Amino acid sequence: MIRVLFVCLGNICRSPLAEGIFNYKIQSLGLEGRFKSDSAGTSDFHIGELPDERTLRCAAKHDIKINHRGRQINRTDFRDFDYILAMDDHNLRNLNSLKDRYNFPEKDIFLMRDFVPEWKGMSVPDPYYGGEDGFEEIYRILDVAIDGFLEKIKVTHQLYA
Ligand code: 4NP
Repeated sequence: MIRVLFVCLGNICRSPLAEGIFNYKIQSLGLEGRFKSDSAGTSDFHIGELPDERTLRCAAKHDIKINHRGRQINRTDFRDFDYILAMDDHNLRNLNSLKDRYNFPEKDIFLMRDFVPEWKGMSVPDPYYGGEDGFEEIYRILDVAIDGFLEKIKVTHQLYA
C-alpha cells in the first residue's frame, strides 16, 4: 500500500481538493487498491470543519468527490505516510521543522508543484482570501501537478495500469 498525504495550511481548500483529484485519477487508472490517501493542515484553524464551500463547488463542477473534515497533521502521520506533499513553501518549512521535532530525519517532504519540471519551487497559491476563480486556478494546477506525481511514482512502484 502506498500512502499519500496532501498538506496545506487550513485543510479546507487546497489539500482536500488535491486528495479528491488524486482519488479520482487513481480510480480512473484502476489503481485505488494500491493507495491510501488523506489530507491535513499544518494549522489548527479548521479542525473538524467541512471543506470551504468554494472548494466543494469547484470539486462538484469537475465531478470530484470530497469526503473530509479538517484535521491537523500529527506525529503519527510522519510514521504512516510514504509521501507527504506540501502545497507551498510555508507549509514545507513547517513540515520540515515538525519532522525534526518528531524525530523522522529520514522523511522526505515534497513540494506539490515540484513534480512538474517547469514549476519547480512554485507554490499552489492560497485561495482562501480570494474569489471563486482562485479555486479554478488551483484545480488546474493540482490536476497537472498530480499527473506529474503519478508519473514519478508509477516508475518507482512499477504501477503499470
Ligand atoms: P488552505 O486555505 O490552506 O488551502 O486550506 C486556507 C484556509 C484557511 C486559512 C488560510 C488558508 N485561514 O487563514 O483560516
